Amino acid sequence: MDIISVKDYYEMSKKTCEYVVDQVNKLDRPVLGLATGSTPEGLYRQLIGQYKEGHVSFNHVTTFNLDEYVGLAADDPNSYRYYMNEKLFNHIDLPEDRAFLPNGDEEDLAKECRDYEMLIRDSGHIDLQILGLGLNGHIGFNEPGTAFDSRTHIVELDASTRQANARFFPTMDDVPEKAITMGIDTIMESKQIVLLVSGEKKADAVHQLVNGEITEEFPASILQKHQNVTVVADKGALSRL
Ligand code: GLP
Repeated sequence: MDIISVKDYYEMSKKTCEYVVDQVNKLDRPVLGLATGSTPEGLYRQLIGQYKEGHVSFNHVTTFNLDEYVGLAADDPNSYRYYMNEKLFNHIDLPEDRAFLPNGDEEDLAKECRDYEMLIRDSGHIDLQILGLGLNGHIGFNEPGTAFDSRTHIVELDASTRQANARFFPTMDDVPEKAITMGIDTIMESKQIVLLVSGEKKADAVHQLVNGEITEEFPASILQKHQNVTVVADKGALSRL
């Protein structure tokens, strides 16, 4: 696991953007795995900037997001589809039909999980997966206790995760209880992974990610076994290493 230490959130976003742009320009038909949450917002702003300045095009790119809430329609401002449209997709030339998220509003969610897996497989797998890190070590929405061999599945969100994400919703009761997420095994099949982490509140999680034992109780710990993981972290996030 490579660790790139940067000064702050802005530098984390900038460094990662440079890397993503380099890969997108280099690869023939790049497949990107994307994440939501507050951490990648700066990266998306930077990517839009690079696109507008003509340094990169996304017209040959396919993207797969990690996760989506169950029960929120695509036009719900709290859905991850809405987030991605607002924060990235609406501002770049990524073809609309190449930007995939699981659909948490499907009736047959088991089928949706299978179909999502198939789409990823048919795309030839993810070249570069962007990850954030939950305070409890979750990646995507794979909460502690998720099997390392899991594929795309439905999860019950941890009380702590609902609490952490409640800031985006009018009240705690509005935070969905379930989500659909790529599984840990699905994520581990990505050829490269870049995990972004910023701020002191994540310092314990980063410590466990890097030095802790590999256990399903801390899902991100499995990344220690991946051949090509880069953690881009700022001083605050690295303060416990
Ligand atoms: C959310 C998302 C994750 C994200 C994590 C951290 O629940 N499902 O993909 O990485 O929590 O969020 P943040 O970046 O806001 O700290």
